[in-house]
Amino acid sequence: MPDVSDHDVSDHQYDQERSVAVAQGGLWAWINKRFPAESFIRSQALDYYAPKNFNFWYFFGFIAIVVLVIQLLTGIFLTMFYKPGAATAFQSINYIMREVDFGWLIRYIHSTGASAFFVVIYLHIYRGMIYGSYKTPRELLWLFGMIIYLALMAEAFMGYVLPWGNMSYWAAQVIINIFGTVPLIGGGLVQWIRGDYGVSDATLNRFFALHVAAIPLILLLLVVLHLVALRHSGSNNPDGIEIKAHKDARGKPLDGIPFHPYYTVKDLVGICAFLTIFALVVFEIPTFNGLFLEPANFTPADPVSTPADIVPAWYFTPYYAILRSFPNKGVGALALLLSLLVYFFLPWLDRSPVKSIRYRGWIYKIFLAIFTVSFLALMYLGRQSVTPGVVEISRVFIGGYFAFFVLMPFYSRIDPVKPVPDRVRFHVHD
Ligand code: HEM
Repeated sequence: MPDVSDHDVSDHQYDQERSVAVAQGGLWAWINKRFPAESFIRSQALDYYAPKNFNFWYFFGFIAIVVLVIQLLTGIFLTMFYKPGAATAFQSINYIMREVDFGWLIRYIHSTGASAFFVVIYLHIYRGMIYGSYKTPRELLWLFGMIIYLALMAEAFMGYVLPWGNMSYWAAQVIINIFGTVPLIGGGLVQWIRGDYGVSDATLNRFFALHVAAIPLILLLLVVLHLVALRHSGSNNPDGIEIKAHKDARGKPLDGIPFHPYYTVKDLVGICAFLTIFALVVFEIPTFNGLFLEPANFTPADPVSTPADIVPAWYFTPYYAILRSFPNKGVGALALLLSLLVYFFLPWLDRSPVKSIRYRGWIYKIFLAIFTVSFLALMYLGRQSVTPGVVEISRVFIGGYFAFFVLMPFYSRIDPVKPVPDRVRFHVHD
């Protein structure tokens, strides 16, 4: 005679397992009937074919997304304890560093994240430049990227003001005053931005609102637009060859591979490497010898004590060097504006028939080398005290910086390019 109670238990177990399975399958089906979750994943990962020859340079877009998420999450926790206001801000940062559980860690991740964001974005932009990713059909993708870059600069600048240290205060003073050079409305504009006659509590409060709410929302929206444009035109690749030109019978690019699992796994490797370096900085050298967190910012804002050298964060210094290399403030501000705007025109300044540096001639390579050296030199010079010598040398590099863009319509046309193959070059372990 079978043991009825045993039977009952196993039946009950079976029923339970079955109902869970049905619920899972059913829930997924239920969702998909109402929301295109599965078809979205399929179209964006499994059925999306990316060029098979991505290299090291193609890690940085995904890493930028991860850094954005890190900044948003740590920013939310910092906001729980930070108190905006000229009387409270500096103290609340001290409180976060000393009293809040793991507050020091959250703050160091956020401050290191800001610098990491710019390292990643500079490499990401440079990749676009060397492989001609801004050229047809990716002009809009590039423009969205450039607007992201400007929004990121505004976000970083306002975040830098929030601790209300002495460098925060004086950097705000210098940067906001740039707007004073706008003809006719300059004076009023500066006052409008500050919300007061000087940089004050009102300025700090509006920067807080912009830093924690307005600009992050704009950034998120822009990143979505950037990615939609990317999926629409498809990724470029180190050969600069459009893979959509050669498709198989199913309509899949012959030189493409499914984004998932190939690139999801590859990106995971990049993220692990990035997070390892990131953690080393956070735990070992969070101030990065004054480059990520300035010594002058460990003393409270003092409107009557100007730091010996007012220097912005390292990622702004190329532009700062440009700003202060002209005796006329208006001309300096105009040069700064142009040095940023000129990237927007890159897709139309470049007249070369090829995209990738692999098939460009020596003229382009020389101009790119001049630009690269000039940008790095200006980054260094922007942190040095202003002396006549520093200004003279900066001017030479400013010339190199602009020459790359302004002369591009001419040299990109006469550059002796190499023939571009029909299909991408990629050999796996041969
Ligand atoms: C929050 C900032 C940004 C995020 C999260 C982001 C994200 C991405 C991702 C995920 C990709 C595809 C993967 C890759 O190619 O690495 C990509 C491609 C691209 N991005 Fe960005 N990006 C950002 C900022 C920028 C900026 C500032 C620019 C420059 C103007 C830019 C220009 C491009 C271009 C041209 C491509 C296509 C590259 C190619 O296919 O060769 N992006 N971006």
